[in-house]
Amino acid sequence: MPPVPTPADKFTFGLWTVGWPALDPFGDPTRPALDPVESVHRLAELGAYGVTFHDDDLIPFGSDDSDRAKHVERFKAALEETGLKVPMATTNLFKHPVFKDGAFTANDREVRRFALRKVMRNLDLAAELGAHTYVFWGGREGSESDAAKDVRAALDRYREGIDLLAQYVTDRGYGIRFALEPKPNEPRGDILLPTIGHALAFISTLEHADMVGLNPEVGHEQMAGLNFVHGIAQALWQDKLFHIDLNGQRGAKYDQDLVFGHGDLLNAFFLVDLLENGGYEGPRHFDYKPARTEDITGVWQSAAANMRTYLLLKERAAAFRADPEVQEQLAIARVGELATPTLAAGEGYADLLADRSAYEDYNPDVAGARGAGFVQLTQLAVEHLLGAR
Ligand code: GCO
Ligand code: MN
Ligand code: MN
Repeated sequence: MPPVPTPADKFTFGLWTVGWPALDPFGDPTRPALDPVESVHRLAELGAYGVTFHDDDLIPFGSDDSDRAKHVERFKAALEETGLKVPMATTNLFKHPVFKDGAFTANDREVRRFALRKVMRNLDLAAELGAHTYVFWGGREGSESDAAKDVRAALDRYREGIDLLAQYVTDRGYGIRFALEPKPNEPRGDILLPTIGHALAFISTLEHADMVGLNPEVGHEQMAGLNFVHGIAQALWQDKLFHIDLNGQRGAKYDQDLVFGHGDLLNAFFLVDLLENGGYEGPRHFDYKPARTEDITGVWQSAAANMRTYLLLKERAAAFRADPEVQEQLAIARVGELATPTLAAGEGYADLLADRSAYEDYNPDVAGARGAGFVQLTQLAVEHLLGAR
């Protein structure tokens, strides 16, 4: 029997994921629009913990104040009825043509000022709904032309925007932290802060660096050919894993947003192992798109599939860790030894220079000839993943 998700698993979904009407650059929508209230109820039935939203997912762009209030009230009522939480919110700074050259980094200064106001407005709502994380995915912050964008000035403006908004939530006492979401390209030809590494470096320059972290997405790092597990490990190591977007991607191509595990499954296995054992306590947030081939039944099947795959991988990872053969192979591979500092307590470079066993009497050929046992360890993981152990 596949495991059944409960709110304790902290699974969350963007309203824009299950609600995607499945249009792409080549074809019309294949599904009707979904009422956010309906999504809240269905996700709660499936065992989710919460939902997340862009301002425009909930309140259509351009709504007047009274329509806005109605949309918010209906949504709040659905949250109350189901007990679903809103741990994260974000801003749509990419759909309307005004953002075609970016939001915080548009060449046009008026567009930048409009973008900041749009974010502030939704930050108020995010705080009201109890969100603790606010995501910044800069999909339009970038260019197709190296002639048309001064990247250094764009980074100045990006920083100016994030600093200002951080000051705003601090002054208002909202208790919200920011999470930047890297992506290398799409919709822009090249997007600023394309990878986890770029974003971490940018964060270190911010005025409120302590309250800004990351929302990395599986597929986005894989689009850049990078190992997502390594990226997440570094984000955790730097205390910057504030949130995560789980999905699937097969290789360096367009953003596929597949169901979690429907891309690189072995990497997903090690990712779940890391999240479960690496100290991440935030929501397990799915940012996927139900395939365009699916009808509404397929939408809810795919939502359930994300959670089931996560829970299955969690079970498999725990079994892998508990297997005595794995423990033995981990010891052969000296995986635990890496946690031992290279120098002893109190030792400095002078002591290292004086230690003949470290160099003069050391025979590198012995270590060079010794097998590491890494392949056998990996095979044990594959066998656990396949349910063969
Ligand atoms: C994408 C992004 C978005 C963001 C979302 C929340 O590639 O389309 O992943 O889905 O996650 O806008 O910021
Ligand atoms: Mn994506
Ligand atoms: Mn995302």
